[in-house]
Amino acid sequence: MRRVSMRWWLVLAAAAFAIALAGCGDARTDASTGAGQAPIDPVDPAACQGCHGAHYQAWSLSMHAYAGDDPIFVAMNARGQRETGGSLGDFCVRCHAPLAVGSGATVDGLNLAGLPAGYRGVTCLVCHGATLTPDGSVDLVNSVDLVNADRMRGPIADPIGTPAHGSAYSFDLDRRQAQSVTLCGACHVVTNQHGLEVERTADEWRTTTYALPNTLRTCGNCHMPESAGAAASVPGAPIRALHDHTMPGVDLGADSPAQRKLVEQALDPVISSKLCVVPGAGGVQVTVTLDNARVGHAWPSGATHDRRAWLELVAYAGAAVVYSSGLVSPDEAVTASSSPPLLLLREQLFDDSGRPTLFMWNATTAQSLLLAPATGDPLHSTQTAAVTIAATVDRVTARVRVRAVDYDVVSALVASGDLAPSGAGRLPTLTVGATVEEWTADRGAACLP
Ligand code: HEC
Ligand code: HEC
Ligand code: HEC
Ligand code: HEC
Ligand code: HEC
Repeated sequence: MRRVSMRWWLVLAAAAFAIALAGCGDARTDASTGAGQAPIDPVDPAACQGCHGAHYQAWSLSMHAYAGDDPIFVAMNARGQRETGGSLGDFCVRCHAPLAVGSGATVDGLNLAGLPAGYRGVTCLVCHGATLTPDGSVDLVNSVDLVNADRMRGPIADPIGTPAHGSAYSFDLDRRQAQSVTLCGACHVVTNQHGLEVERTADEWRTTTYALPNTLRTCGNCHMPESAGAAASVPGAPIRALHDHTMPGVDLGADSPAQRKLVEQALDPVISSKLCVVPGAGGVQVTVTLDNARVGHAWPSGATHDRRAWLELVAYAGAAVVYSSGLVSPDEAVTASSSPPLLLLREQLFDDSGRPTLFMWNATTAQSLLLAPATGDPLHSTQTAAVTIAATVDRVTARVRVRAVDYDVVSALVASGDLAPSGAGRLPTLTVGATVEEWTADRGAACLP
């Protein structure tokens, strides 16, 4: 019985610490690294800051830290609970705030804002307390054994002792091991209550050569770059391989210039493009090909029902725009734009009567246009758009733009009263740097780059 009330959990945790401190075989009792220091609250990420300052800083910039606070998430869960008459239950919070479910502090996530920070989001203990079940899967809510949560599992095989917590090596948290994908995949595949996979990043990865033993590249290999340093700022800590915890993707949490910079850097080289222009009598023929060569899964991936990535293509004669598609203004939804893009990468969900829906709890089928991973499905890792522009053209520009969530989703949440209009704000539109191309007439028939 691991599901304990919060008060019981504190009592039990205190007891567990007392037993561990008395020395029952873990690495806690090494006197050289700060004996006499009080054991910490393993649930609270701030309690790790003193010794794992860099890890804490990095994690704070990640979407994992934001997963239970994200106002769009909170609003969507509230709407989903209402529209399903509560039958959604703990479905969303099992991934966005697993410790709140595991401790019994929430049953539906509607009270998240009132809970201590350590119970919201994908916190340190969610990953470092997780163990795989005997059948090799992760039960997010019950596998974090809150009673014995003082033992931190990680990639270090010979951790030095600390009074703060017990330590143990885990294959599940070592990016050199294929099974480390199981932990990430426990959340990065989302199957809704109708059995539809609405997010499938880890399953996309499984179709690639990155999943094969000889060419293995796990999630952590790409998303947690390695550096060398002390894993804990305590006297005598040896130099270790450290792994970055910022995990930038496309989404931005609270207004943080530091996170935005990381995301833009990560996004810039993600896909490549080729812009070909052939001038002819009375116009030009334009072809753009997008190619997913470096991502270990589809691009975009994850919450593709919220995400929009599109091609912006503009042709000019002098300063005048003679053609445009995907020229979306900063405050309108792509799907509502008067300049629809030639290529829109996204997933469209449908309900059981075949009507489009924005929300995953209504969805029974889906249709998506994404760039497949290159190593699994080379035929579909590219997408091409072509258009003939019947006008005199002396300059053509192309670029790929992306929004983690678009205005159609956010406006629907405002309209239903689940999201405060102030919470909607202006949604960031990012540009994939490697896709920015410009053709000018002096080049003649040419492909760029
Ligand atoms: C008083 C200092 C201190 C505090 C506070 C602390 N740790 Fe540690 N931690 C250490 C030391 C020392 C090590 C061992 C480092 C080494 O051997 O290189 C360690 C190792 C770890 C490891 C690696 C274990 C392994 O075997 O791979 C993880 C994971 C970890 N800590 C997580 C946490 C988390 C999460 C918190 C907060 C809830 C926390 N620590 C708080 C000192 C601390
Ligand atoms: C070969 C390298 C590679 C591997 C392996 C890989 N990824 Fe990625 N991943 C990327 C790149 C590159 C991006 C794009 C980064 C960006 O958009 O800023 C990305 C983006 C993402 C995103 C953001 C979603 C989006 O729309 O772009 C998530 C979530 C993600 N990866 C999770 C995972 C998980 C989980 C795994 C393991 C199952 C994994 N990745 C394996 C390279 C990789
Ligand atoms: C999404 C899961 C996840 C979260 C959340 C997370 N970690 Fe980690 N952490 C990992 C993984 C995976 C590794 C090991 C990477 C490897 O070796 O391949 C790791 C490694 C570590 C290590 C060992 C040294 C190193 O850099 O490899 C420490 C210490 C650590 N994490 C502390 C923390 C602290 C403190 C927090 C919260 C502030 C935290 N982690 C949050 C997944 C996570
Ligand atoms: C307990 C569930 C959980 C686990 C385990 C987990 N993640 Fe996540 N991850 C999330 C959630 C939820 C978000 C998005 C939070 C939000 O946007 O509100 C996220 C966001 C991300 C993003 C940013 C996506 C974007 O669109 O910007 C990346 C990259 C990522 N995770 C990679 C990983 C990797 C790599 C691992 C394994 C080491 C991992 N995650 C383990 C739940 C999890
Ligand atoms: C199996 C785990 C899981 C479940 C269940 C889950 N999510 Fe998520 N959610 C994720 C992960 C992982 C991401 C990050 C994917 C990404 O950003 O690419 C995410 C991202 C999000 C985001 C922000 C990302 C974006 O760009 O829109 C929202 C909002 C969200 N989820 C809402 C919900 C709601 C509402 C529910 C319940 C109806 C739910 N999620 C259920 C794992 C889960």
